[in-house]
Amino acid sequence: MVLSRRTFSALAGTAALGLTLGGSGDGGAYAVGTVPTGPAPGPPGADGRRHTIGFDSYSMLIDGRRVVLWSGEVHPFRLPSPSLWRDVLQKLRAHGYNTISVYVSWNFHSPAPGHYDFTGVRDLGLFLRTAAETGLYVILRPGPYINAEVDAGGFPGWLTVTPGTARTSDPAYLAYVDEWLTAVNRVAARHLHTDGGGTIVLYQLENEYANNVTSPLGRDYMAHLYAKVRADGIDVPLFHNDKGRNGHWAPGTFDTHGERGRYLYGFDGYPSPSEAPPDWGYFGVGGTKGGATASPGTPGFLAEFGGGWFDPWGGVEFDGEGYAGSARTRDAAYERRFYLTNLANGIKVHNVYMTFGGTSWGWLPAPVVYTSYDYGAALDEARRPTPKLVPMHQIGQLLHSVPDLAKLDRAPDVAVGDGSGGSRADAGITAYHLVNPDTRAHFHVLRNDRPADVVAGVTLAGESVRVALPGLDARLLATGLSLGRRTLRYSTAQPMMRLAAGRQDIAVFTGRAGEPTWTVLECASAPKVTVLEGSARHTHAHGLLRIDAELGGLTRVLVEGGGSTTPLLLLLADDAASARLWRHDTPSGPVLVRGPALVRTADLRGTTVHLTGDTVTAADLEVWGPRGVNGVVWNKGTPRTRATASGSLLAERRLPGVPAVKLPALAKWRHRAENPESTAGFDDSAWRTADRRSSHSVTPVPAGQPVLFADDYGFHYGDVWYRGHFADMSGAESVNLSYVTGTQGLLMAWLDGKPLGTHRMPVPDKKTVRQGTWAATATFPITPEVRRAKGPHVLSVLVRRMQHDEDGAARDTHKAARGLTAVTFGGAAPALRWRIQGAAAADPVRGPLNHGGLYGERQGWHLPGFAEGGWQSVEFPRARRGQGVCWYRTGFRLAVDPAVDASIGLTLADDPSRAYRVQIFLNGWNLGQYINDVGPQHTFVLPNGVLNTRGANTLALAVLADGTTPAGPGTVRLTLLGSAAGGVPVTPVDSPGR
Ligand code: GAL
Repeated sequence: MVLSRRTFSALAGTAALGLTLGGSGDGGAYAVGTVPTGPAPGPPGADGRRHTIGFDSYSMLIDGRRVVLWSGEVHPFRLPSPSLWRDVLQKLRAHGYNTISVYVSWNFHSPAPGHYDFTGVRDLGLFLRTAAETGLYVILRPGPYINAEVDAGGFPGWLTVTPGTARTSDPAYLAYVDEWLTAVNRVAARHLHTDGGGTIVLYQLENEYANNVTSPLGRDYMAHLYAKVRADGIDVPLFHNDKGRNGHWAPGTFDTHGERGRYLYGFDGYPSPSEAPPDWGYFGVGGTKGGATASPGTPGFLAEFGGGWFDPWGGVEFDGEGYAGSARTRDAAYERRFYLTNLANGIKVHNVYMTFGGTSWGWLPAPVVYTSYDYGAALDEARRPTPKLVPMHQIGQLLHSVPDLAKLDRAPDVAVGDGSGGSRADAGITAYHLVNPDTRAHFHVLRNDRPADVVAGVTLAGESVRVALPGLDARLLATGLSLGRRTLRYSTAQPMMRLAAGRQDIAVFTGRAGEPTWTVLECASAPKVTVLEGSARHTHAHGLLRIDAELGGLTRVLVEGGGSTTPLLLLLADDAASARLWRHDTPSGPVLVRGPALVRTADLRGTTVHLTGDTVTAADLEVWGPRGVNGVVWNKGTPRTRATASGSLLAERRLPGVPAVKLPALAKWRHRAENPESTAGFDDSAWRTADRRSSHSVTPVPAGQPVLFADDYGFHYGDVWYRGHFADMSGAESVNLSYVTGTQGLLMAWLDGKPLGTHRMPVPDKKTVRQGTWAATATFPITPEVRRAKGPHVLSVLVRRMQHDEDGAARDTHKAARGLTAVTFGGAAPALRWRIQGAAAADPVRGPLNHGGLYGERQGWHLPGFAEGGWQSVEFPRARRGQGVCWYRTGFRLAVDPAVDASIGLTLADDPSRAYRVQIFLNGWNLGQYINDVGPQHTFVLPNGVLNTRGANTLALAVLADGTTPAGPGTVRLTLLGSAAGGVPVTPVDSPGR
């Protein structure tokens, strides 16, 4: 195989030292004789060429080149607007991620057995194509089980009523699994990087499967998945994500059909942010298998590492603070502390769960979570970059331009003290020292696990240096690192980037604003040093140039001569300045841009650099590009530029920020009450008869009762109605309604049209929220007047059954019943004939998880175009009394400038004692559930595309009221969550009406 090497590797002095692979361990089947340590290859794409994807114990080897996969988890099913996939992916790529990891949720694609849909918002192929066009590798994780805080852990509703034990080698279950894998792999196989169809480089089997690790039930299951995926043409390396570093499903623990070197060991880690980061790999024992790692032949692979955490209903995880609490407890410093520790421990495939969390819209969320799945992720639910992207950007850019980090060995410990002669243990400092055995570049990770800031004394390249270590933070330092044609002796600032642009090398170092830094370069003779921006002092002695500067904005130091004919532009950037530096690679070499809030793409056409990106406030535009570049295009405009002393082109005028976005007030509400199902005379003759006697559910069918479980009658999502008919009520003093739901389920009942009351599952606390079998019995007294009424009688019950259990423990708990389970009477035993009604047929465009079985949903009240004739005009706030369901609809028009990306939300607020909840439909799309007296979510993201930002929109609210308090809505308004000039073109999402 011919390995093309770029000029830069020679310039960088990173010679391609040979590593001969093969023979030992599980890695290396695709590996070639030599592994270059030159710069990482350009961004991957669907180039139609064949690529090899292998690994050895150090790292992945793509086309024989080492690459650290720096990945963020993104779920296309949590952003129902395909155009915005590009926005999210471009933001991640620009911020230094080279990979995304993607669950595919079986339930999202399959309304019924044998039916698989990959169109519209479910167009997985389009998502994968977009990832390839954006230059991101993909780790694909199609389950069949995914967990992911989605209904039934991703299993389709219909699977809950099938025979067979899920997540085992039971043939009944495997037949369905094969059906799903055939369908999803047909898409995946077209986007593999191996044949250049796309950028999938890794593929996951199952998810955190911790059962049956040593029994045939599990081993045969995993072997079956392996064989099936291979038979479907997936030829990239496969892996499993072990829940913790247990060694489960490491290579050799199950039958991989004679294949060696094509299966990796991955594991997940969600450490508590309040504890010290755990060690394994080079610095720890590495799990039950002992030794350096649980799988010595494969690279350190964190298939999921907690980058945030989810928040259950009631906001119990973050004491009501919501996802702001998640982002605060796992902030930028957490990222540096934990992720740099992971890198120090030898992790070379690193995936942060979540990086863009998105929205669990419709009935997608597992019972444990509410609609927002923001997760406190680096890119928030409204697609806004957060400060958490900054460390990811800095480290991602570093991994890209310094491939030395892809091959590290542990090096001898260095002396670290508290800067005043004390030991590092006294100061709470942990120090890691690593070396690339080929280039001899050394890396140090210094971590402070105490809240107090310290200045540590550390020996770097033989010299004792003082390094600022803020409390609960970490930094990576390099020594002996090539910066192109010069070598870094050491710097107390973290390296971020090195590149050759035009006639010079550029090196970027970062740190916190206000920190003192010392950067020492090897320079045989005294160079010419010019401080172009900011302030810095410099001295030259004994072949070393020493530059001292306090970090603040951008400090530019130009180093010329001193042993090299190529100038070096040294950029010392504080966090804020580093987040405005964008590197993109073109076939002619890298382009570095400074200034805008985001640079999405950079293309070189002739001598002009074409850039697309975003601004929020007015911003500089400065560009360093390959030699000869003399013009810049920004979002199709052509700013006038001039050449600078920094070797860049600078736009003479700043780019404008984003113009103001005006949102209309929501008014002209129309109202209509529903639940005719509760009335005695309602005609339910078209409903299904509930008379089954057996079920595949794990919930036992009560003796002498028919099966009332909603799933058994084909109603898998949303609300479900029951009507029980009986002749005689004599003696009946009470009725007992047993039911099972997910968290926050409720039931409301009427007897002969008169309300009996509403029963709600208790609001869980931190402990109970994940354990719940949410089963309860509601007992309603039957008053003497009601009892005396002549038959026939009808008992009407509405169950908001929430979602299926996630079944994380692989015990078939997704098959627990949902809906009524048993009905008895106190003082009487009438025989009831039951009818049941849930959601009408699945919405062919919005999918099976979009709507449930409310009367309004069955009649299309949530859809645009529904004629509201006869609906009553009302104003908010409302204070309606009574148990039951009513609807509110309004229309509104937006006229957002097409060159502006506005993130818009819907915010509901009311007196928190009012017991009601709201299902929010925008243009027919179910964008979430608001529970006024539980929370914590008040603002719901309305994704552009579903939201028409230039034209008419229909908003419908289905309000379910307990009847114990007046019910709102209180205030309902549009909220501007963020805006930027730029964005991506947005194609409207098909939103058929009535
Ligand atoms: C992991 C699981 C993910 C997700 C995560 C918590 O254990 O693999 O699917 O559930 O926990 O958000």
